[in-house]
Amino acid sequence: MVLAHKSALGGVLFELKSWARFVLPSMYFAVFYPSSLSTVERMLNLTECGPKDTLYDLGAGDGRVLIAAAKRGAKAIGYELDAELVATAHQAIAQHPEAARLCQMVQGDASTADVSSATIIALYLSDQGNTRLMRALHPTLRPGTKVVSNFFPITGWDRHLMKTCFADPSTGPLHLYQVPKQ
Ligand SMILES: C[S@@+](CC[C@H](N)C(=O)[O-])C[C@H]1O[C@@H](n2cnc3c(N)ncnc32)[C@H](O)[C@@H]1O
Repeated sequence: MVLAHKSALGGVLFELKSWARFVLPSMYFAVFYPSSLSTVERMLNLTECGPKDTLYDLGAGDGRVLIAAAKRGAKAIGYELDAELVATAHQAIAQHPEAARLCQMVQGDASTADVSSATIIALYLSDQGNTRLMRALHPTLRPGTKVVSNFFPITGWDRHLMKTCFADPSTGPLHLYQVPKQ
């Protein structure tokens, strides 16, 4: 766990809480486990993220994907349920003034996000989480929106799959999908 807790016990308790709410029935689609910074860059390369983009990270954790996307000039919006992670993300974003004006962190359930302005969606959740989330959001995605998922594929989206590539043999594949342009 990467959160800067005041004590080792604090970190262990956060991790236990994160797992408990994922395995028990809840709105949580995943535990907090951040993408490596190199994987984040590869996710952004894969989607060709740039100044014309609006990226949503659904389950944004400590905000690292937002910061990296904003450094490329993209507008970056994150949804995160956990209040502690939202606070951590705000602190991290504030340390990058060049990116901060493009970043927005929302504390809330990603399945209620209005993603109609998204050109890129970033995910690092779980098999079941991807399925549940994209079932809820798919009807509101605009044609051409790219969806990149770290590790977990999106069940039922095979027809939208553009590419699967291995970011790093130690972390697993990245899956790139695109909503048909029509
Ligand atoms: C594996 S972490 C990924 C964090 C970040 N996207 C990254 O790639 O580094 C997944 C995050 O999703 C959050 N999460 C899980 N279910 C959620 C939901 N329904 N709405 C918003 N956030 C959620 C968890 O709290 C956790 O921080």
